[in-house]
Amino acid sequence: MTTSMWRCTTLLALSIGVNAASDSQVQTVDMYRAMQKPPDGKETNRVSNNNLADILGVLRYVHQEIIVEHVAGNPERETRKYGIDSFAHYRMKVRNPDTILKDPSKMAIPGFGGFGAFDFGVATAMDLLQGLVASGDYVGISKQDSPQINFTHPWYWFSVDGDCPNLPWTCVKPYPGCTAQAPPTMPQPCDPDGCAGKQDEAARNCSSKPHFTDPSDTETARKCCLHYSSSPDKVIMGGLCDTSVSEPTGNLGCVYQYEELSSKDFLNIDDLNGINSMQCGSNGKRKCSGWKDWRDNCYDPEGKYKKRFHCEDCHDSGKWNVTTQVTGYCVEYDLHPFCQETQNLCQDPKCMALKPEEKEYGLPFWSGKCEVEGNRKRAEAVATYFLGDSVKNSHWLVDKAALDASPVCASTDISVPNQCTPNPDGGPYCTRVFGGVCSTCYLPGTDPPYPDPSTQPMCPFGVLKEKGNTPPTETKCASNDPLKICCLYGLGTCAVNGTDGSDAELTARGFLQTMRMMDNKEMVKFATRIVSGRGGAISNENGFDEEIYATWHYQPPNNPEEAWKIFEETINKSSSVDWHPSPKPKPGSGGGGGTVITILVVLLILAGLGFAAYKFYIRPRQEVALGTGGRLKSSLHRQYQSCGQARQQLLPSDNRSVQMSG
Ligand SMILES: *[C@@H]1O[C@H](CO)[C@@H](O)[C@H](O)[C@H]1NC(C)=O
Ligand SMILES: *[C@@H]1O[C@H](CO)[C@@H](O)[C@H](O)[C@H]1NC(C)=O
Ligand SMILES: *[C@@H]1O[C@H](CO)[C@@H](O)[C@H](O)[C@H]1NC(C)=O
Ligand SMILES: *[C@@H]1O[C@H](CO)[C@@H](O)[C@H](O)[C@H]1NC(C)=O
Ligand SMILES: *[C@@H]1O[C@H](CO)[C@@H](O)[C@H](O)[C@H]1NC(C)=O
Repeated sequence: MTTSMWRCTTLLALSIGVNAASDSQVQTVDMYRAMQKPPDGKETNRVSNNNLADILGVLRYVHQEIIVEHVAGNPERETRKYGIDSFAHYRMKVRNPDTILKDPSKMAIPGFGGFGAFDFGVATAMDLLQGLVASGDYVGISKQDSPQINFTHPWYWFSVDGDCPNLPWTCVKPYPGCTAQAPPTMPQPCDPDGCAGKQDEAARNCSSKPHFTDPSDTETARKCCLHYSSSPDKVIMGGLCDTSVSEPTGNLGCVYQYEELSSKDFLNIDDLNGINSMQCGSNGKRKCSGWKDWRDNCYDPEGKYKKRFHCEDCHDSGKWNVTTQVTGYCVEYDLHPFCQETQNLCQDPKCMALKPEEKEYGLPFWSGKCEVEGNRKRAEAVATYFLGDSVKNSHWLVDKAALDASPVCASTDISVPNQCTPNPDGGPYCTRVFGGVCSTCYLPGTDPPYPDPSTQPMCPFGVLKEKGNTPPTETKCASNDPLKICCLYGLGTCAVNGTDGSDAELTARGFLQTMRMMDNKEMVKFATRIVSGRGGAISNENGFDEEIYATWHYQPPNNPEEAWKIFEETINKSSSVDWHPSPKPKPGSGGGGGTVITILVVLLILAGLGFAAYKFYIRPRQEVALGTGGRLKSSLHRQYQSCGQARQQLLPSDNRSVQMSG
């Protein structure tokens, strides 16, 4: 065991040696935004003074803020809220200034400053404005893990600053002389006296305070663009590099960059969620053409999609009288108010007590907002669209090429540890597999154990292969049993027969040993051996691959025995296995009794399906009255649309959900 540990460490050290050659601080990170696709796929304004997110983050935004019918606003609306019809993909290069990178107190996570929400072009957080003045332009980040969705690791929001970040895109009334249209929401600093707009000459060349650098002077901050403290004669210009440089430099005006978008960088949400394959028209003979067509002309004779929730008296001390309303239109998605409007959202006990069919209405694509599996599938669908083969069959939501192009997370100077410098107790490590950025995690089952596992997600199996992740030499596992997970990371050897899907023992231990390879082919080999061992054969390879794919992940299971049980059940119940292949009937046991059992099982499954369908289609209308405390969430939506798509914000400035991580 000691030998293999030593070997492992040496290999890691070698791989670091190779990568250490490049010490570039440029990170390559895929970021996403929910927006209205411009007609030709070309942004009219490049993204700045705005917020973006990773895949889970942008799905979370749409799932929570955009499509939930009973809070989405005017039922007569002609489009999805804010006109959102697409996800846009930005392959960002980020190189934050040394003022941030060399000052741990300013870094939220390695490589990034703190996040701030943008509203109508205004950075609404004083912290961000002060940071931009003091440090120059930077890209900020916020780690998110609220129970708005359910997942096994956090997700991320980003902020990218732009020109004159303290003033709105256009002036806001009643600012003297302002004739612009009122914005959809009032950005905080402009209330109640209005604001100058970014482009107003008087604001750019502020005669009263030509070197304005103090955003806490709110009176001036409504009239004048902020300047950098290091260059008081310069208005903050924003971090988007001009096209003359090949990479962001980290200097004023150049901390992020991306290739201009084209049509391929947009994913139509109506393709993603299946609306464009739904039936429309009076006889359902044609395919729907988008959100509005389906909403108005869906073919839904049973009223499966024509309902939504309604909540009365839903606030802290309210009665929470929730009813189902029949609608005259088809509903993309609705979530029970117990899960949407309570303080603890998906984790509210009242929400958790609901059956799946009571929790959500609408398209199957959106179901399972409070379940890991649902979010996993949606996120992978988005990742597969944008990242293609690089993420296929891996469960990954990030592109390995982007990770490889980014610097190591752990401090390379042992005398100056950072939040990614591990102790022998299993953490904190950092992985880029979660959102493409340095995300802390821990290894379960080390000796001594990680002190505070509830604050961290489990590291992905491959974490020690990510560059820069060298475990301290004293690191050891408390046990070499794969069921205790630790050894699966390559710390020592696991006590298990076999190494991969072709020879791992057919037990829970062998299952985990195979899972650590994170390769569906290996899992399928492993599962196929179980099937053949029981005299069965795979009758539908693609179907089987897909079923097996759902049984593993790049993070180890929280409960390995449970995961093994689900894996066995998946095989036992698989519709892609022929348990009694006809060509060469198995001698001895099996035979007739088995066929009878198979028929019985099939009948049972069919009966189960029938029952589920019955319950789903013909649910009685629900009337639930409950009185538990919960805070009515005020959904603040800050999005601006008529000013061109690039002005749209990804995220609202809802103070409750926006939290700084650093
Ligand atoms: C801006 O103000 C400076 C003095 O602070 C003045 O010299 C300059 O001409 C002004 N520029 C414009 C475009 O008004
Ligand atoms: C709940 O709301 C429904 C519909 O608004 C109403 O008809 C019903 O009387 C309410 N029930 C209670 C217990 O308040
Ligand atoms: C989150 O998902 C997991 C796995 O599907 C489930 O066990 C857990 O109860 C879910 N949590 C909530 C709050 O729904
Ligand atoms: C593992 O291999 C050993 C030696 O070949 C054998 O005795 C043992 O039964 C195997 N265990 C399992 C679970 O396959
Ligand atoms: C799956 O089937 C096998 C063989 O019939 C049985 O031993 C095992 O207990 C089953 N496992 C589960 C989880 O259903």
